Parts: sequence; structure tokens; C-alpha cells
Amino acid sequence: MSPAPGKSRPGDLFPDASDELVAGLAKMPDLLSKALPLRDKHRRALASGVRRLSTFLTVERDNLPPDYMNRPEYLSAYLHYFFPWNIYRQGRLLQGLDFSLKPDSTILDFGSGPLTFLQALWLTRPHMRKNSYKYIGFDRSDPGLKVGRKIFEGLAGTEGKSWKVHTERQLGDARKSAPADFIVAGNFINELNPARSAKDTEQTSEEILLQRWDALLKEDAAILVVEPGTRSSSKQLVRLREAALGKGWQVASPCTHASECAMPGSRSGSWCHFNFQPYDIPEWLFKFSRKVKLPKERASLSFLLLVRGKDCPVKIITPPTRDNSEGLVRVISETFDLPDFKQGRYGCGQKGLVLLQNDKTPHPGPQPGELLTVKWSAKSEKDPKSGAIIIPSTQ
Ligand SMILES: C[S@@+](CC[C@H](N)C(=O)[O-])C[C@H]1O[C@@H](n2cnc3c(N)ncnc32)[C@H](O)[C@@H]1O
Repeated sequence: MSPAPGKSRPGDLFPDASDELVAGLAKMPDLLSKALPLRDKHRRALASGVRRLSTFLTVERDNLPPDYMNRPEYLSAYLHYFFPWNIYRQGRLLQGLDFSLKPDSTILDFGSGPLTFLQALWLTRPHMRKNSYKYIGFDRSDPGLKVGRKIFEGLAGTEGKSWKVHTERQLGDARKSAPADFIVAGNFINELNPARSAKDTEQTSEEILLQRWDALLKEDAAILVVEPGTRSSSKQLVRLREAALGKGWQVASPCTHASECAMPGSRSGSWCHFNFQPYDIPEWLFKFSRKVKLPKERASLSFLLLVRGKDCPVKIITPPTRDNSEGLVRVISETFDLPDFKQGRYGCGQKGLVLLQNDKTPHPGPQPGELLTVKWSAKSEKDPKSGAIIIPSTQ
């Protein structure tokens, strides 16, 4: 069962959207109409444009035009549907990650589109607004970058001047801003062409990507990659995680350990991603999503937060455990029914995949993304279907 609206639990990775986040999203139609006024003809074509772009971004990836953000039809579709949904998704994750970023940090956002991450960061980090940061959004499509800058100016007003916002079209220009503190990429790496980047080399495209990013970062640095909650994106993040661990990075979230991934999404197995209920989106987005026939009952994403160095610019607090008899488990799945009036949810801990099991209850219980402290037992049974270690009663 899912929690009632407005009932975030301590330790949630996706707490309810804050008032600031909801208010910022509520302002989007107005900000968009100022930043990119639509002719009647384009307004009428918006719904069909959103549906076409959605097909390209999901089931017909190979046909996605590389310059889609330059085409008025798809740019406006992106801005009215995917952009607010991504601010919402990234915003709820940013609230849950609850990290602070050192003042004067330089942030490089690759495939930034309309500066989605910047808007989400602004809306979810009121305490960072007075600090100075340098943010550079990189995207091959200039129109999206331009609209993104105007929207940020409208959203942040004069207060936003303490954040120095720049945009660049060439990813290679990131060298000019190196060494940076923090690299972010939202819904970007699934658009990179693996065949092109990994040609003539033994390295995976994720190893090559990480090598490029490494060269742009300080010794104390962080990387946040947020991707769709699909099997293929999650598998890409598993490869990026492996490459990062091999290069001395630590996974600050969502992993609770540095051992082999317990949910790598191989064959029919489950993959690491998180679903949460978007009951707190503003009314206009709810109605617009219904109008374009793409309503969402679940928001979904996969992500990886990597950190490196003693003085990492991103600080995350992890709950301590007492000794080896205890361990941290990240809840991954939603709740599902089990025989004998029980219910379960999959989680991931240092011993691998776990099945958190308890008697059926009307209470919502731990949600996807929540971090729990569990007791390991030498006598634990394994679930015959998934091979997960069964951990009884998490309530
Ligand atoms: C799905 S959008 C994501 C935008 C934004 N980060 C978000 O989360 O809403 C992907 C963006 O990556 C950009 N992109 C894809 N491949 C690129 C490349 N090789 N160089 C620069 N930008 C690229 C596209 O133009 C597009 O704006």
C-alpha cells in the first residue's frame, strides 16, 4: 500500500515535494509562455508533439532525431511535459539526497537541455541560494539552453544572481571550466551513442565516459547521474558504477555497498530503479498529462551519486550501524503480496538482494528508496524464486 498524500517518512529518498518545489512547478506555464511564446498553430499541435516525442524517447529510441531540441514542435513538447516532470522527479530525489554543496563549487551539467537540474536544485536548496556557485549547462541544442536561462531568471529573480549561470553547445568546451567540483547528467547518457564512443577499444563506453569526466574534475569531486527507470538505463548505470568503483570512486547513493550489484537487470531479473507517487504535482501538470493521454500513476527513475576525496564538495550523512550483525538495506521495490497474508518488498544490502517480509498491514511501511537498518542472521532463509535473503518484519 502506498502512503497517504503528505505523509513522508523520515529516511525517505523521495520525500513529498516541498512547498517551494510545488510553487515553482505551478509557475511553469506562465514562465514558459514568457520564455517561449507559442503561436496558435504550435499550441494546437502540442498534444500530438508530446505523444510523438514520448514515442521517440521510449520505444523508438533509434529514430529519435539528434536535433530534436532544435525543432520547434519537439522543443515545445519537451518544455511543456518532459521538462516539468523531470524537474519534479529530480527535485524529489534532490530533497531526499539532502546533500549540501560547498560554496564556490563549479557544476558541469551535461545534456542539460533547458537547465532542468539547475531549476530543480534552485527549488530544493533554499539554504544554498545566497552562496555563490558557477553552473555551466552543456547541450548541443541552443534553443533549449536559451529557454532554460530565461526560465531560471524568471524563477530565481534577482536572488539568482549569486549563481553564475553559463551555457555551452560543445561538450569539449568543458575543459575551459576544469577542474570542476560536480558533474551532473540528467536523462543524457542514454542518448549517447555507445557504438561511436567505444569503437576500436576494449573499454566499455561507460569507462570512456568516466575517464573523460575524471579529467574534468578536481581530486575531491562528485558525479550525479539521473536516468529513466528503465531496464536499459539501469543497466547502463550498473556499468558506470563498475567503472567508477574500479577508478576509486565511492557510491554515496543508492548503493549500500561496493560489492557486485544485486539488481543488475540481467535477463528477466529485476533492475535497480525507484518508483514514487506523484500525487503532489500541480494541477496544471496533472490536467495537461491527462489531456495529452500520458498521465502518470508513478514517477520513476534510476540514479547514481558518486563521490571522491576527503573533502568532497557533496556531503552525505549515512546512518551508523553498530557492528557486523547489523547492516543498511535500501528498499528498492514497491510492496507486493506474498502467500499466507504476508507482503514483501525487495531491498539491497551488503549481503546482496533481500526480501523484506512482514504480515499484511494497512500501514504503508517502508517506501522505495528508504534506507533501513536490519539485523543479519546466520539462519536466514532464501526466497526460492529470487534467491533473495529473507528478512522478516520490517515494520
Ligand atoms: C532528454 S534531454 C535531457 C535534458 C535535461 N537534462 C533533463 O533532464 O530534462 C537530453 C539532452 O541531451 C542533449 N544531448 C544528447 N546528446 C548530446 C551530445 N552528444 N552532446 C550534447 N548534448 C547532447 C540533447 O540535445 C537533449 O537536450
